[in-house]
Amino acid sequence: MAACRMTENVLQHQPVLLAEVIVGLGIKSEGVYVDATFGRGGHAQSILSQLSPTGRLLAMDKDQQAIDYACQFFNDSRFTIQQGSFAGLAEFVKQQGLYGKVDGILCDLGVSSPQLDDPERGFSFMRAGKLDMRMDTSRGMDAATWLASVSAEELARVFYSTGRAW
Ligand SMILES: C[S@@+](CC[C@H](N)C(=O)[O-])C[C@H]1O[C@@H](n2cnc3c(N)ncnc32)[C@H](O)[C@@H]1O
Repeated sequence: MAACRMTENVLQHQPVLLAEVIVGLGIKSEGVYVDATFGRGGHAQSILSQLSPTGRLLAMDKDQQAIDYACQFFNDSRFTIQQGSFAGLAEFVKQQGLYGKVDGILCDLGVSSPQLDDPERGFSFMRAGKLDMRMDTSRGMDAATWLASVSAEELARVFYSTGRAW
């Protein structure tokens, strides 16, 4: 389902509000669940531990390093991960033949600790590094390249349109 690479990048992420998330999902042991932002799978691991052999967990993440981590540490027939944006979640669920059967979806939005810890990713406010800032580094343009090419007006427009409260 997802293209895996062997990785030595095993930086961990502490899942936030783990107990609350598990209670909130109200997990049925035979149910179908989606983790739309897998990260390093802290929530996913806990969801899997509540599922019976017929339960399913589908997961997504944009970040290849998250996918590599899943390939290495989530060898479980109840679990399937796909690299990509959760904007494509409905399509992924359809491909798995589980459309209309999902019992709960978790979206733990934002950056993961490994993305912050690695200065090369450009998200760190603790360590200097190239300003990349892409969740999926195989697509699009890094933030440094974009900043070097953009006009002040365009920069202001993007900050305004993506940063305002709705
Ligand atoms: C806060 S972390 C999730 C941590 C995870 N719950 C855990 O326990 O390890 C957020 C994750 O969402 C991913 N992400 C951000 N935007 C995304 C998007 N549009 N689609 C899919 N994944 C996304 C990031 O790559 C990151 O791994």
